[in-house]
Amino acid sequence: TDRYAVFGNPISHSKSPAIHNAFAVETKQQLSYEAILAPNDGFAVSFRTFVANNGLGANVTAPFKEQAYALCDELSEQAQLAGAVNTLSVLSNGKVRGDNTDGLGLVTDLQRHFGSLKGLNVLLVGAGGAARGCVFPLLQAEIAKLTIVNRTKSKAETLVDMFAQYGNVASQPIEHGGQSYDVIINSTSSSISGEIPNLSRDVINVNTVCYDMMYSKQQTPFNQWALGQGAKNVADGLGMLVGQAAQSFLIWRKIKPSVEAVLTQLRAEL
Ligand code: ATR
Repeated sequence: TDRYAVFGNPISHSKSPAIHNAFAVETKQQLSYEAILAPNDGFAVSFRTFVANNGLGANVTAPFKEQAYALCDELSEQAQLAGAVNTLSVLSNGKVRGDNTDGLGLVTDLQRHFGSLKGLNVLLVGAGGAARGCVFPLLQAEIAKLTIVNRTKSKAETLVDMFAQYGNVASQPIEHGGQSYDVIINSTSSSISGEIPNLSRDVINVNTVCYDMMYSKQQTPFNQWALGQGAKNVADGLGMLVGQAAQSFLIWRKIKPSVEAVLTQLRAEL
């Protein structure tokens, strides 16, 4: 059978094997998909061994997305712009191609929840790797304007400089007020420490859609805050996780699985 895997460290709690095995059943594809723990300093060796043992493709999660980027023979435009790779494919000529499906996973999940993003004013909170990976896909979804804010403002400005040629992107101080947005995306890791970004309540109106890339059984701290400011529509990042997996599956198998059934199952298991 065709062999796939997800690489990370740690990896034992990864939901990717369950997601991809469910996709395989649904689309009637014969394949195996396992979780592989790579040593922190040994991702490339671990991946090469997998390829030597008939590995056809892999997902890559923390902390290896930049190392995966570095070992690719070719990169999609989105992977180049993200500076990170979450999807590796072994081509028929043996070369390794890198993609990044995280941003498209986010965009498709936003569309699934809230409809078209066309013409919307979007606020992106955070300027780390997760933020960088979704800028180009958001611009490609024909949003009107992307405003990037970050605790460390200079990092938001760096992202703006990097993506200005691809669309309408600007930065603001994180605490700026005086305007609200159609969509607010939290890409920060602040909730890991139980914190929320220092946003003004002005950024939210009753129609604002808030999306937290983090997910949890209970409402995430960021989405709790948004609801407290009067937002009516919030969603967490579980759908982004399934969405990026679906895009990877499509790249490897040329068939698009449906996300709903898997998502319902994962939500029940949180
Ligand atoms: P990731 O790959 O998940 O994006 P990262 O590259 O380390 O991880 O980026 C983490 C992001 O979360 C950054 O934007 C960080 O802000 P700084 O650039 O100022 O460090 C943001 N972040 C982390 N903790 C935060 C907090 N408590 N409040 C606000 N932003 C926070």
